[in-house]
Amino acid sequence: MALDRKAPNDLNAFWMPFTANRQFKKNPRMLVAAKDMHYTTSDGRQVLDGTAGLWCCNAGHCRPKITEAIQRQAAELDYAPAFQMGHPVAFELANRIIEIAPKGIEHVFYTNSGSESVETALKLAIAYHRAKGQATRTRLIGRERGYHGVNFGGISVGGIVNNRRHFGSLLNGVDHLPHTHLPDDNRWSRGQPEHGAYLADDLEKLVALHGAETIAAVIVEPVAGSTGVILPPKGYLEKLRAITKKHGILLIFDEVITGFGRLGAPFASQYFDVLPDMMTTAKGLTNGVIPMGAVLTTAELHDAFMDGPENMIELFHGYTYSGNPIASAAGIATLETYKEEALFERAAEIAPYWEDALHSLRDSRHVIDVRNMGLIGAVELDPIAGEPTKRAFSAFLAAYDKNILIRTTGDIIAMSPPLMITRDQIDTLIGTLADVLKSLD
Ligand SMILES: Cc1ncc(COP(=O)(O)O)c(C=O)c1O
Repeated sequence: MALDRKAPNDLNAFWMPFTANRQFKKNPRMLVAAKDMHYTTSDGRQVLDGTAGLWCCNAGHCRPKITEAIQRQAAELDYAPAFQMGHPVAFELANRIIEIAPKGIEHVFYTNSGSESVETALKLAIAYHRAKGQATRTRLIGRERGYHGVNFGGISVGGIVNNRRHFGSLLNGVDHLPHTHLPDDNRWSRGQPEHGAYLADDLEKLVALHGAETIAAVIVEPVAGSTGVILPPKGYLEKLRAITKKHGILLIFDEVITGFGRLGAPFASQYFDVLPDMMTTAKGLTNGVIPMGAVLTTAELHDAFMDGPENMIELFHGYTYSGNPIASAAGIATLETYKEEALFERAAEIAPYWEDALHSLRDSRHVIDVRNMGLIGAVELDPIAGEPTKRAFSAFLAAYDKNILIRTTGDIIAMSPPLMITRDQIDTLIGTLADVLKSLD
């Protein structure tokens, strides 16, 4: 008998990730289909996607080219061993990624998620220094309020207390830079905030404290999403690059959400014109359709490993599904869709309209800040005294009832629609959100 996928008979078995399981299972929110800018719910409503799924469906949903590529690839070569064997699709995708990557980025190491990309980049950083004869460089530096996925390396360099405090002592030898969210100085920012470049100078303090010869890498999100859209102040990323370079420290940009057009350029690195040594990616690489991530590196980093006898494995790291054929085919079709529909350019073009629409919420009830960059927007709400996160979560539920999908983190509403969003759809999204805010306690 065919499974009725629209109505599961029991919700108990599936332990849902990053979800209030008991709340959800009492009052489930089920998505059963999607097309372009909309989800269809199990009760037959069309919900406007204000978040590109989870910051990943940059080309919109169920795009024919991607669907067909997956179907074709699944019928032709379903899986090939990732170690000591190759298949053409993964090589082709790597070349296509490098075509749109910043000049100076030349190699692609495949993973299956953002979290795995982060673990891979951190390991590469430490192994790189060892390969270059600097085995003392093992210390990793992240940033407060950073999100780098959920594996041990990522939560160690990450800066979200709830993601860290339940999981023991984490990695040794990790420090954090201060975050760059300065509401008193930068409230209502449009694009890059004016104040805060000086926060990068804390890296000099960590160098003075530990010695540069102990530090392997600094990892930051060029624009942090998961902790409520934290923007880099003008000059901050440039400063971080200059200080890391001066001390021989690698700079890793976690581009898991900023990669693939979110800011109107292929990567944040190009948007800010700052070249890191490595970039971690995932999500938009396959339009979120099939799990896949990639670490992008400079030739200098890659070449440091290409040493020793040629029959020896150079890097003892990789995943069963690294460069999986079906994911690779999805990746190629995704990059082609971005290009054919000029979606990155489109994002850049519509970003000012997005900015104005978002900032029209400035005087809405409970709003204490609005900030934006590219097709990212945040609306920060005044928390209910003694009940942090509750007001924003109520907004999320009310928004879903009114047929828009937003995301909340703490008391911040974050939005990141597919890059195909139209002006009318921006009006609907923001207009509905304004109604939701009016209705909140
Ligand atoms: C900057 C950043 N890094 C890493 C991740 C983790 O990605 P994944 O959930 O695919 O493991 C995310 C996810 O939102 C992210 O925003």
